Amino acid sequence: MRDSVRPLMVAVAGAVSRAMAAALPAEVADADPLVRRSDHADFQSNVALSLAKKVGRAPREVGAAIDERLRDEIIADTGLSGPGFINISVTGSSVWSQLAARRAADRLGVGTPLAGERVVIDYSSPNIAKQMHVGHLRTTIIGDALARLVGFLGAEVIRQIHYGDWGTQFGMLIQYLDEHSEAKWHRDDLTGNADAPIEALDELYRAAREKFDSDPGFANRARARVVALQGGDEATLRVWTDLVTESQHSFQALYDRLGVLLTPQDAAGESTYNPYLDEVTAELADAGIAVESDGALCVFFDEFTGPDGTPTPLIVRKSDGGYGYAATDLATIRYRIRKLAATRLLYVTDARQAQHFQMVFATARRAGWLTDDVQAIHVPYGTVQGADGKPFKTRSGSTIPLTELLDSAVTRAREILAEKAPDLDAQTFDRVAEAAGIGSVKYADLSGSRIKDYVFDVDRMVNFTGNTGVYLQYAHARIRSILRNVPPGTDPVVDTDLTLEPAERALGLLLDEFGKAITDAADSLEPHRLAGYLFALGQTFTAFYEACPVLKADDPRVRGNRIALCQLSGDTLAVGLELLGIVAPERI
Ligand code: ARG
Repeated sequence: MRDSVRPLMVAVAGAVSRAMAAALPAEVADADPLVRRSDHADFQSNVALSLAKKVGRAPREVGAAIDERLRDEIIADTGLSGPGFINISVTGSSVWSQLAARRAADRLGVGTPLAGERVVIDYSSPNIAKQMHVGHLRTTIIGDALARLVGFLGAEVIRQIHYGDWGTQFGMLIQYLDEHSEAKWHRDDLTGNADAPIEALDELYRAAREKFDSDPGFANRARARVVALQGGDEATLRVWTDLVTESQHSFQALYDRLGVLLTPQDAAGESTYNPYLDEVTAELADAGIAVESDGALCVFFDEFTGPDGTPTPLIVRKSDGGYGYAATDLATIRYRIRKLAATRLLYVTDARQAQHFQMVFATARRAGWLTDDVQAIHVPYGTVQGADGKPFKTRSGSTIPLTELLDSAVTRAREILAEKAPDLDAQTFDRVAEAAGIGSVKYADLSGSRIKDYVFDVDRMVNFTGNTGVYLQYAHARIRSILRNVPPGTDPVVDTDLTLEPAERALGLLLDEFGKAITDAADSLEPHRLAGYLFALGQTFTAFYEACPVLKADDPRVRGNRIALCQLSGDTLAVGLELLGIVAPERI
């Protein structure tokens, strides 16, 4: 693999650091040079303002001292402005050289700073025998983008679907199925799409719950069935395994349609951790971390209290002897650290589970499982709202299946494509409509700050204009179409001596920042940082294309450099969209 390409911003920061070392006292000379992109020049350093107090001189004086010593072959011009900002412009040839180097490099010259890390990402995690609904949309989309981002940066990624596949409700459902042998829910007995088993199970589950609430005899038989399930009764386990298999089959069809990385190998449902629950509980009790309280075994914390000030415990074992969600997550975190040897644990769930995870992490820390060299992070997100700003529900108040949401976006995509891209052949049309509909749903989710609620509004999301997935897919396809018109046999050689037009400079400098956008998104666990970068790239490319003829440029050297800019722009958009899990069709 060819080496990663050092971004110009890093080179400029290095030059400022060297000037600081020559101009400033040793105690402050190794401070961050604070180099950023700027509207006034290519780059700007604010370091003089931040260090002036410590040095005991006016910011402008400090700035001048650094500026005087600022020299590097990539720097064309520098100057002081305002109270002491240092403006820095780089040479045209340095920008062209970056372009050439990134085109020649693997992975567009982006490095692998997370190599050596092993990141376990818990995401999607639907419940067996229940349809995935709008509540599972964000965890699936955000979790998958994070898996792609940290993986691209070199981390080893272990994806975990923490299915809700255990608990008293399964006793109830299995008992109901036993008493209704006519019920059809196996994929072989059903016609319809891959969703059919889970749809059928969802209905049966509802019927079982109704019967449980209204028929005490059935409720008793269902409870006995729970005991049989937990006791490992073979016939009961067989039905349970069947339920899990059929559900997973439907989920996988949805994952494939969504284009997420999840596969059956990533399944690690709650039941996986059953064998460890007794052991984990004993370990916590023996260490005095979990204590008896009203018959239950609990962990208490100073920092978690209810509204009346009484402590809120984490209940490891309920007073009836049963284990719940907390016990499972304790066994899970121990497993992921000890057996999977994770260096980082990410849990992508909605914000309401924040306290649960803080308690699980605190307990794991006390138990010595979670040490300082392992990071455990809950990655919360806001809710999906309807266009009316209320939580997304059907008119009757029930939750909306995920499939229906996706269908509505694809339907909208078909409408606008019929209008904007009537020339596509039928097969391409279907493929592009699916990519545009699904891509828009994903992009709408990923382009805002995670924690904010977001509005599911297909008319706004599936749109050629604005900060949308379709806009970026179209920007990418347009670049590909420009490149399809490059005469065959043209191999653009980047001529680094050519003068650089302002629009070329803006595009070249932005392309050089791709790696930073990915790292920013991965470090903050905020995919919108990459989304925002890609949107800016789409706009900057458009400005370039309006100002600079590519194939019609007279000078063949200019043409070559511009074709190279188009290629790198197209590739950067394609890789960027892929890291968000969005398909980038070659033509639209
Ligand atoms: N199945 C749970 C739900 O639907 C989410 C599980 C999240 N992961 C975890 N380790 N608790 O709410």
